[in-house]
Amino acid sequence: MKGYGEEILRMEDIVKTFDLGEGKKLVASDHVNISLHKGETLGIVGESGSGKSTLAKILTRLYPMDSGRILIHGKDIAPLKGEELRQARRNIQMVFQDPSTAFNPKQRVKEIICEPLQNYGLIRKGEVEEKAKEMLRLVDLPEDFANRYPNNMSGGQRQRIAIARALVLKPEIIICDEATSALDVSVQKTIIELLDRLQRETHVAYFFICHDLALANMFCDNMIIMQKGKVVERIHDLREAKDPYSKKLLASIFTIEEGKNKVLPDELFQ
Ligand SMILES: Nc1ncnc2c1ncn2[C@@H]1O[C@H](COP(=O)(O)OP(=O)(O)OP(=O)(O)O)[C@@H](O)[C@H]1O
Ligand SMILES: [Mg+2]
Repeated sequence: MKGYGEEILRMEDIVKTFDLGEGKKLVASDHVNISLHKGETLGIVGESGSGKSTLAKILTRLYPMDSGRILIHGKDIAPLKGEELRQARRNIQMVFQDPSTAFNPKQRVKEIICEPLQNYGLIRKGEVEEKAKEMLRLVDLPEDFANRYPNNMSGGQRQRIAIARALVLKPEIIICDEATSALDVSVQKTIIELLDRLQRETHVAYFFICHDLALANMFCDNMIIMQKGKVVERIHDLREAKDPYSKKLLASIFTIEEGKNKVLPDELFQ
């Protein structure tokens, strides 16, 4: 198993309640504690509605939380506002499920990839093309994609562009919210392998939200099992599950490959 480094993120005692009207409330995050280390892939798994995406939205500050702390290298980013918050956000980027709706169809690929750098004033106009080509090479796409539009590309190619864009600010954390779920299994495999290679090269940590337990168990160093807003268990491998709910999840997987090495067996994708 690969090693990973110091703790970079700690989410402490996160509570998020949605008001559903008529006095009804839904606790989507119920005193959740999570820690993430440099170069780690942390899977967030659990049934639909268990609160996985809510955690991602709290982490990126898209949703306010009721209470809790979000510590990045020990500093709480939850109270930050304005420019301080904008700077803290640089470190946490996101790749979403559906690559077809993620981009502005009027932007060329080079503009899509370099937009985060432009937003932070970190690139001059004349440098955009070269930087985009460098990022395209990194995600194994042809350089001439830089001047194309995203519409006429495959889902897998668009997801590579999304990954290039997420990496361009050199964040320490990338949240993948079902980032491979919309793709064909064969394409999914190549994207997982790309994420793995990029992690080895950049030591980025992944917050990997995934409803596919076999895939999460294979790809992730550790997993958080969620149920109804609560963390049920944190485990390294689903086969170590002790909690009855995690065991039920485990029973729903027909085959889990042996070992935790990063060579992805083809059976997983058939
Ligand atoms: N903006 C919102 N307003 C009200 N309820 C919400 C809102 N966002 C999420 N919820 C509710 O919070 C709960 C957790 O939702 P969340 O999207 O985090 O689940 P999830 O684990 O990501 O599910 P899935 O696997 O289907 O994506 C669900 O019951 C959902 O209906
Ligand atoms: Mg979700």
